Amino acid sequence: MSSVADTVEKPLPVPPTTRVTVIRRAKFAAAHFLRLPELSEAENLQRFGASSNALAHGHNYELDVQVAGLIVPETGMVVNLKDLKQILNQEVVAPLDFKNLNLQVDFFQDRLTTLENLAQYLWARLKPRLDSLSLELIGLKIAESDDLYVEYYGGGDLPA
Ligand code: NI
Repeated sequence: MSSVADTVEKPLPVPPTTRVTVIRRAKFAAAHFLRLPELSEAENLQRFGASSNALAHGHNYELDVQVAGLIVPETGMVVNLKDLKQILNQEVVAPLDFKNLNLQVDFFQDRLTTLENLAQYLWARLKPRLDSLSLELIGLKIAESDDLYVEYYGGGDLPA
């Protein structure tokens, strides 16, 4: 016959259940232009304005990456920010900073260098890296100036 004391077990560690979204900003400076090879000079100018200049212009881009995960009780963190910074350096800054997006980034060889396409490019690079840390990529906000930015939350036909 067992006593009450025998049946009392040590409490199991409480699994992490508190989910928090962390936002980390990465900055890069890049040049680009908007033009379609099948259009004439005049047609490109009409469609894209000054951005059609093939000598390019630049932006100081700011990318806000939102990742969500559970707070690890032992660390009090969703993600080690050092790890997140390293991923952003490898997947965002290294391939894009001080580059001409049209001429130096393969993804844009057959795509316009719009913020919309840039968001998809960055999503495709970041998602597998964040998945490997059990982090959910919630959204990206990418700004080329104070008054122009796009937000992307995944979905749609992500280019290969
Ligand atoms: Ni531009």
